[in-house]
Amino acid sequence: MIYLNQDFTVTPWEVKGEVDYNKLIIDFGIKPLSEDILNRLRKHVGRLHYMLRRKIFFAHRDLDWLLDMYERGENFILYTGRGPSGHTHLGHMIPWIFTKWIQEKFNAKLYFQITDDEKFLFKHKLTLETVKKYSYENILDIIAIGFDPDKTYIFLDTEYSKTLYPLAIRFAKHITFSTARAVFGFKESNNIGQIFFTSMQAVPAILESVKQGKNVPCLIPLAVDQDPHFRVARDIYPKLGFYKPAIIHGKFLPGLGRGGKMSSSIPETCIFTIDKPKDVRRKIMNAFTGGRPTKEEQRKYGGNPLICPVYQYFYFLIEKNDEKMRKIFDECRNGERLCGECKRELAEKMVKFLLDHQKKRENAKDMIERFMLRD
Ligand code: TRP
Repeated sequence: MIYLNQDFTVTPWEVKGEVDYNKLIIDFGIKPLSEDILNRLRKHVGRLHYMLRRKIFFAHRDLDWLLDMYERGENFILYTGRGPSGHTHLGHMIPWIFTKWIQEKFNAKLYFQITDDEKFLFKHKLTLETVKKYSYENILDIIAIGFDPDKTYIFLDTEYSKTLYPLAIRFAKHITFSTARAVFGFKESNNIGQIFFTSMQAVPAILESVKQGKNVPCLIPLAVDQDPHFRVARDIYPKLGFYKPAIIHGKFLPGLGRGGKMSSSIPETCIFTIDKPKDVRRKIMNAFTGGRPTKEEQRKYGGNPLICPVYQYFYFLIEKNDEKMRKIFDECRNGERLCGECKRELAEKMVKFLLDHQKKRENAKDMIERFMLRD
């Protein structure tokens, strides 16, 4: 039965099935976040973010090196990004919330890439005008997270191209088609923009080094599907005279249906940041759960929080108190907590979370230019 759980796909263009993160660690050649490295982090930040305590961020590349550098007095910059293929949903916000915490703890600059070129090239139906519209919608959500306006630089690939392009071609020159094909599975039918794209995603990690004229370490928080771009690019940075960026990998927020990550293509199982309270309540009340078919069975046998998206939403986003989280787990397991009340509790907390976010999102409308990097 070894094969039962292995039916999943994780690439930058597609995430499908029940992801086995331990298998990904092996397949991608990344390192689990060990107690050792978490203790090292704790020395610098005090209490760890709940996403670290709960292993929502679960793996890394060269984080030990980054901490060595930091302890020697070299500050690092942060880099992350967003592919603007539609409106922002809760899953997208997980790495952003975590990135904001690191920015605060380490007082780090953040480069935030909006890959409008990527989404135009990879999504056949999207026009450049539409991706641009989504880019600026998404930027409101990014600003609403609370990044430091004096230390955060947001840019669209097509708009910041005078700076990005001459750097991207330096990477492109070292990446052969056969490497890109082996890593991403490209076929003859892929358009040539897609094949080039990894070189655009590589660039922001070196923007600060180029600006300062000396090497500055970089940490990239990302959802683990983005790792393949950097697996390719990390071989190139030293060839161009730069440090390899360190990476910290996050898990996917599941959708409200059965299995799989939250995905805009199934809107009923996906909560968007601009959803209205009544839609949020409906989606949550209709969610799949780990509960039993009847109240009596639930009381008697308890539910299964580990396969339950409602539980996962508390875990990933809503309930930051570990004690309370454990209580939800125990109450579900021992049959005290019924799915209906659990969903209602989540729905109300989620509505509150979103109304607060929407207020900040509205305020962000006047702040866009403070954050944009222009050339
Ligand atoms: N390609 C990413 C996406 O589709 C966006 C992105 C660009 C990104 N640069 C990044 C994500 C760096 C994480 C880290 O969402």
